[in-house]
Amino acid sequence: MIKKISVSLKKKSYSIIIGFKIFKKSDFLFYFSKNKRYFLITNNTLLSIWAKKILQIFKKNNINIDIIVISDGEIYKKIEQVDYIIKELLKKNCSRNDVLVAFGGGVIGDITGFVASIYQRGISFIQIPTTLLAQVDASIGGKTGVNHALGKNMIGTFWQPKVVIIDLFFLSTLSKRELLSGFSEVIKYAISFDKKFFIWLEKTFFRLINLEKKSLLYCVKKCCKIKAKIVSLDEKEKNLRALLNFGHTYGHAIESCTNYKNFLHGEAISIGMILSARTAEILGILEISQVKKIISLLNKFQLPIFFPKKIPLLNYISYMKRDKKNSYGKIKLILPFKIGLVKIYDNIKEEVILSSIKNSFEKI
Ligand code: NAD
Ligand code: GLY
Repeated sequence: MIKKISVSLKKKSYSIIIGFKIFKKSDFLFYFSKNKRYFLITNNTLLSIWAKKILQIFKKNNINIDIIVISDGEIYKKIEQVDYIIKELLKKNCSRNDVLVAFGGGVIGDITGFVASIYQRGISFIQIPTTLLAQVDASIGGKTGVNHALGKNMIGTFWQPKVVIIDLFFLSTLSKRELLSGFSEVIKYAISFDKKFFIWLEKTFFRLINLEKKSLLYCVKKCCKIKAKIVSLDEKEKNLRALLNFGHTYGHAIESCTNYKNFLHGEAISIGMILSARTAEILGILEISQVKKIISLLNKFQLPIFFPKKIPLLNYISYMKRDKKNSYGKIKLILPFKIGLVKIYDNIKEEVILSSIKNSFEKI
């Protein structure tokens, strides 16, 4: 059965479609036109696993579609790939009426959305997320972009997709590590907005890790609903949307400091959420019992919880200072007040950040 969730943004409104085997059953066709040209943007890993099959399905249904393949990995989420895609689009005479189709995880989604937003001053794009992380978070809300050597997601735009098509069947080929990384963003929603969901995750983790259909569908739908509501209220992150970044200031700095090589995005966010909880504990706004519950849930999903000792702290703090939420050089963090409630906390002192890190060091 197909579930539909709306992102309400006036003229930019769109649907999130969620189901199993949407592509096998051709349920996606409603969102594609035989009179348009499409460019599927994917990576070399997905090419053999899914993209070739998907391309065949499109072609069998007389959809005019071409493909552009880029290198796989967060280290390739950079401006050079944007230039490469644009060059390919120009060589293939992609016009303003044509549509880009992001087929992959968050990296493909973010790069494709960014290209769509700048190519010939902006063309349409569709999100077909294939990782859990992209299905529950990255494909929704129109944040697009690439990394810079000096900071994560430092180049980008807000550019909404025309539709997000989530086929949970794609998750069957995802590695366990990538799947667990996606649950980090799921847990983020629960800690930030929904205590009941947190308790449900504590009980259901085993079924979720094993991709039990009913639980997975409920879980993805729940996350998409939360994100759709927040994006509908605050598309450009003037206030409320910042709450979706719980754990991200600490997490992004871990990714940047390790050159996007040692930690998956969700893994860095998992550590980031613990550090944020520790900060809240130090500031006296979160009880230690709640910190322990957060650690225990992340443990159930086998996510990392310790700050990597090898990261030089001065370097790390300089990355945190460049976070997009900061203003006037002051570090702003999203902190939990209790499970199910986070708030923006301004002007966090460096000593507090350093103490939070020291409280989260891995045991040797
Ligand atoms: P990813 O895009 O790197 O994908 C993870 C890996 O899984 C890749 O190697 C990919 O090729 C592979 N893969 C994808 N689908 C597969 C499948 N079905 N079967 C087998 N392998 C598959 O990583 P991700 O975790 O999806 O996304 C992380 C990125 O998303 C980060 O760059 C992060 O900044 C971004 N992000 C963006 C937003 C947003 O709002 N725009 C939100 C959260 C995260
Ligand atoms: N992932 C955070 C956001 O979309 O705002």
